[in-house]
Formats: sequence, C-alpha cells, structure tokens
Amino acid sequence: MKAIDIRNKYLRFFKEHGHNVIPSAPLIPENDPSVLFTTAGMQPLVPYLLGQKHPEGTRLTDYQKCVRTNDIEEVGDNRHLTFFEMLGNWSLGDYFKEESIQMSFDFLTKELQIPVEKLSVTVFAGDEDCARDELAAECWKKAGILDGHIYYYGKDDNWWIAGEEGPCGPDTEMFYDTGKPACSPDCQPSCDCGKYVEIWNNVFMEFFKDKDGKYSKLSQKNVDTGLGLERMTMLLQGKKTPFDTELFKPVMDKLQELQKVDLIESRRIVAEHLRSSMMIICDGGRPSNVDRGYVLRRLIRRAVRHMNKLQIDLNEISTLIGIYVENLKEMYPELANNKETIIATLVEEKDKFVKTLNHGEKEFAKAMNNCKQQGQSKIDGNVVFKLYDTYGFPPEVTKELAEENNMEVDMQEFEKLFKEHQEKSRQGATQKFKGGLAGNGEIETKYHTATHLLNAALKVVLGNDTHQRGSNITEERMRFDFNCDHKMTDEEKQKAEDLVNEWIKQDLPVTVEEMSKEDAIKSGAECMFIEKYPDTVTVYTIGDISKELCGGPHVKHTGEIGTFKIKKEEASSAGIRRIKAIIC
Ligand code: ALA
Repeated sequence: MKAIDIRNKYLRFFKEHGHNVIPSAPLIPENDPSVLFTTAGMQPLVPYLLGQKHPEGTRLTDYQKCVRTNDIEEVGDNRHLTFFEMLGNWSLGDYFKEESIQMSFDFLTKELQIPVEKLSVTVFAGDEDCARDELAAECWKKAGILDGHIYYYGKDDNWWIAGEEGPCGPDTEMFYDTGKPACSPDCQPSCDCGKYVEIWNNVFMEFFKDKDGKYSKLSQKNVDTGLGLERMTMLLQGKKTPFDTELFKPVMDKLQELQKVDLIESRRIVAEHLRSSMMIICDGGRPSNVDRGYVLRRLIRRAVRHMNKLQIDLNEISTLIGIYVENLKEMYPELANNKETIIATLVEEKDKFVKTLNHGEKEFAKAMNNCKQQGQSKIDGNVVFKLYDTYGFPPEVTKELAEENNMEVDMQEFEKLFKEHQEKSRQGATQKFKGGLAGNGEIETKYHTATHLLNAALKVVLGNDTHQRGSNITEERMRFDFNCDHKMTDEEKQKAEDLVNEWIKQDLPVTVEEMSKEDAIKSGAECMFIEKYPDTVTVYTIGDISKELCGGPHVKHTGEIGTFKIKKEEASSAGIRRIKAIIC
C-alpha cells in the first residue's frame, strides 16, 4: 500500500466514524512565535483542546505536515526524519478511551489488515499525578489485543505534552513487531533495538500543566492521536527504512546514479534534508541567521556538504527537487505551484554556501594537518574563530568536519573569542545569531558536566562496575550509554536523578589538571578508552565524587547546571542501556 492510500484510508475511516476532515495547517505556525515549526497535529488545535468551540464540531481528523529537528544529527541512520506526516483524529470533549481504542484497533487490524499478533500496546503505569490506566488496558483487551502484549510504563514513555506547558495526559502507544529477533530476554516495546516500532499514539488529554509544573483538570476530556505516515508505509511495505519507500526511493535512486562515492548515510541525509527544506520553503520559510530561518539554513548546508561528499554536481539540486515535486505532488499539491521558488531559494543558498565552503574547507584542512603534526587531538578555539571570522565558515561545520576526522574542537575558547569580538565590533551577524551561538556552547558545556555526574551516580546506584560506554550531547539533550544487565527500575532511575540533583545543589567545584596518562590512571580517574588518549591528559575532578579523563569543556561549579531530569531509559544493545536526560 502506498503512503497516499494509507492517508486516504485513514481519513475515510474516521469520516465514516463521524469525524470532519480539516485542512492541514502550514509547517510554519500562524500567530505562534513560541515554536519554530508545527511539530504535531494537535498544535494548531490547542485553543479547541482547551475548550473553545471548533467550527467543524467535536470529532476531527486530518493529515499534518510536521518538522522536528531535535535529532537532526541522527538523520542518516535507518529511521530518523526531520520532516514527516502525522495522521490524526481528535475528540474535543466527545468520545474518550473506549471508543478511541476500539477505532484504533479496528483501523489497524481491519483496514490495514495488520495481524493482531504483530501488535503490542503500552499504557500509563500511574503516579502521584494520575492513576494507573486500567481502563485503557481493559479497552485494549476487550478490543482484542493478545494477553502479554500490554505493557505499563511511567511518565517518560506514556505521558504526552508538547513542550513544557499546555494540555497533556497519559497516552497509550501502539507498536508493530517487525519480526526481528529480540535483542535480550527483556526486550519490549520501550527498547529501541528496532524489533518494536511505535506506530500510533493516543493521548487522553484531560490535564493542563502550567509553567510551574502544576497539573489541573481541563474543562473537557479530549483525545489527540498521531500516526506517523512514513513509518507505517515502511512497515506495511515490509521495507527496512523509510528511504526504501516510494516517498524517497526515486530521489535515493537518482543520488545513487549521480554519486561518484558510495555513501549510504550521505545519500539519506541529502534526500531527507532536501525534502524537509523543500517543504519548509514551500510553506514560506526562507534561510536566515535566526530562528527557523537558521534551521532551514542548517538543513540546506548539511545537504550541500553531503552532496559534496558523494561528489555530486550541486546543480543537480534542481533535478532532485524536480523528482520530488513530480513524485509528491499528488500528496502535497502546493509543491507544484511553488516549484520555481523552492529551486531558486535552494540554489541561491547553495551558491552562498559554496563560496564559504571553498575557502573554509581548505583552511580547515591546513589547520587540521598542523594539529596532527603537533600530536594534538583538539583544534584550538582561535582556529575555529579564524575560520568563522575570515572565511564565514560556520562553527558547527568546523565541529562536524573535526568529528569526521576524529578530532575535537575547543568550542569554549571559540565562544570566548566570539564574545570578545562581539564586544569590539557591532558588525556582522545579528545579535540573536551571536546570542544563539554563545548559548549553544554554554548548554553543551552544562550537559558535559552533567554527563560526569550521571556517570558517578550510576556507580552509586548500580555498582562500581558500571562504566560509560558512549555519550552524545546536543543542545536539547544528553544521551548516555552504560553497561547494565537489567532495565533500570523506576526507583533506580529516581535515585540516580536525585543524586545528580543533590550534587548540583551542593554547587561542587569542577577543577581541571594536566598530568601524565600513567598518573591519571593511578589517581583512579575514570575513562572510556585509555588507548585513545595522548601521553599527557587533562583530568576533571568534581568535588570528591568524580574524576575523569576528559577534554572538557566543563562548568566551573555544578550549581550552574540547573535541574537534571532523566527522560528515558532503554536498551541500546546487548548488555548496554541508554539514558536520555535533559537539564532545565
Ligand atoms: N500529539 C501526539 C504525538 O505527537 C499524538 O505523539
């Protein structure tokens, strides 16, 4: 079944069940400067979820274009997308759990003909804010979900809110079993090994969370659902990635035909980012140095860089967009009318970036060779600054290039120089751009230190043999992999989170010293891969709770971090668990 057929089936099914089909809202939210892009079908409906009367009634359905860029760096793997379509149905104070669950079950099993044994569901386990959702579980059983296919999880998995404040509630999620072998005996829907893929989320929105974190009851009970079209298409077609479906395949094939170097990740990044950029431009977005314009700029720059890696002529951008428009115009008729604007915007931005890149990449290569010759694994902040200041080379590109060459960059030093420069000269990028850059580095630094605290806390909670196995930091979150033979209990997670917050509260000093690798090991400093470090290393110490080999940067006192919150704990691979956490 093609994506458009799934969409049409969905809208027809909910129409038959008394829903009115409402138009998809633009990707760029109207009258809502608080968010960059529409990230869920419910976003344009917030006033109605809060009680305002919707002109189309109390049962609504639609398809909604969404952009989420939190995981932009992970695009290139087999599932992350920045643009996707969400199919949704809503009850505004109309039906609630029983009818919602019955309709979802019928749509999946009767309309899409998914065998019931392939379905598992999760429901809210209950806490001090809201009781365990026995009703949802009962409704699933009554509908026909098999015994042993219902799982209970806490707020991290089964509670939905857009951002920090607004209408929210417990949710029930539906998972499709791909048939992949379980990664461990306790593999279950919350695990992201790829066996279970989340396909639909029904949120029972009866609460409002205010900015102080307090919950109150809404004036009406709503249902808000979201089904990811690209994923569903992939699963129903038995494909391993969305890139193998008709939504991407013609462009992926063209990239393969044009490439001179065979890089699957780069092909996916180009295909994905061009599609996202095309949809954003189509809805009125333009590249700039601030806010959503900057997100678009980043998407285009990454697409261009990866076209270069594939050694594809950048003029082929218009061919690729031509294929997309042709292929997707039935789903998004607005593309055909905007084709010229989309291509012109992309080409103009590409030309600007090429000039920057040409100079910058040469300079970067020189700088990197210098570092390597001197045995340095870290590029100085002043090199990053010079690349930015003299060649307009974006610092995040320097960072990405460095990472591709297994090097680090001293972003803290870069930001210091950047601030000094900012004070001296008021020319150049806008204030907001500068502020944004400075802020990004700061938040990453906080996450860096929080990583050390979590590492120490896990040793207390799970035992001294618990070690870091990987980590990844973005501006929005940290990810931390560690060895552990079981799914952490809610109590263990809480204990780890509390410990980290306790250490933050104690405002412990963070100190750094240089020493020989040998001395560092003798001092008991923790490190992941000792052989990867040079003979002289830097060791960061936090009060008397943590000592780790690390290149930094770190905050000076733990109190600067803020509040630490574990959002998710899941399997990463055999014997390795993964925590996703945020600071706020
Ligand atoms: N708003 C819910 C989601 O985005 C349905 O998952």
